[in-house]
Amino acid sequence: MHVVIAGGHGKIGRRLGRLLVGRGDVVTALIRNPDHREELLADGLSPLVLDLERATAAELTPHLAGADAVVFAAGAGPGSGAARKYTVDRDAAVLLADAAVAAGVRRYLMISTRGAGSPPPPGADEIWSAYVDAKTAADEHLIGTDLDWTVLRPASLTDAPGTGTVRLTAGRSVGDITRDDVAALLVALLDTPASAGLVLEAAEGPDPVAEAVGRAAAERTGAVRG
Ligand SMILES: NC(=O)c1ccc[n+]([C@@H]2O[C@H](COP(=O)([O-])OP(=O)(O)OC[C@H]3O[C@@H](n4cnc5c(N)ncnc54)[C@H](OP(=O)(O)O)[C@@H]3O)[C@@H](O)[C@H]2O)c1
Repeated sequence: MHVVIAGGHGKIGRRLGRLLVGRGDVVTALIRNPDHREELLADGLSPLVLDLERATAAELTPHLAGADAVVFAAGAGPGSGAARKYTVDRDAAVLLADAAVAAGVRRYLMISTRGAGSPPPPGADEIWSAYVDAKTAADEHLIGTDLDWTVLRPASLTDAPGTGTVRLTAGRSVGDITRDDVAALLVALLDTPASAGLVLEAAEGPDPVAEAVGRAAAERTGAVRG
């Protein structure tokens, strides 16, 4: 499989890239900082320097051609202001979707967030509100395409070692989740085409990752399509 990861040097992006390369997949990592190239090459990925806040869909499209899937793992990050929630978490994700359509790449995995899909809670600060609003808009854009999308909404992320077990729900999740487990979930989603059309909240839980994804795809009771 050839997978393009937007945000390939991010904390989840790197974990995902290593997992995929480790089992023989070909991975292109979209990055904006050329200093990150060497580390990604050492991991066995192909880095491609492209600032997703500056690129156009026409510039991005040729780099996606021939890929089997794209993963949106970029983000403005916790230190950013509200404006970059819109230019990265919304607009860069939309750009990736539009370029995937133009390039003929069917599969798109979105790393969204807990809370997306609903208005920010009353009293939420400006930056959190912008983040949830931006993620919601990106999810809605993707859901409105005819791509084979899956939207994964992780709980609060931690860098603790992965447990290999999770809980996937259609409704709001409870607890945290490790970035290791999110990366493992993304691999399982790539391996489960029937998970297309699902919006899944993910948190720590008792279910082995592949089993949780397989069950969600089979049941589709919490499925949200369009
Ligand atoms: N933190 C949480 O608890 C939480 C919970 C749920 C979901 N999420 C979401 O999970 C996703 C991944 O999280 P993470 O912890 O892996 O994030 P991360 O480590 O901050 O990685 C984000 C990546 O996006 C890249 N990026 C930012 N702007 C870019 C641009 N203009 N062009 C290209 N790349 C750009 C960053 O590159 P640089 O290194 O160059 O900045 C970085 O490598 C994010 O979408 C985040 O919103 C987070």
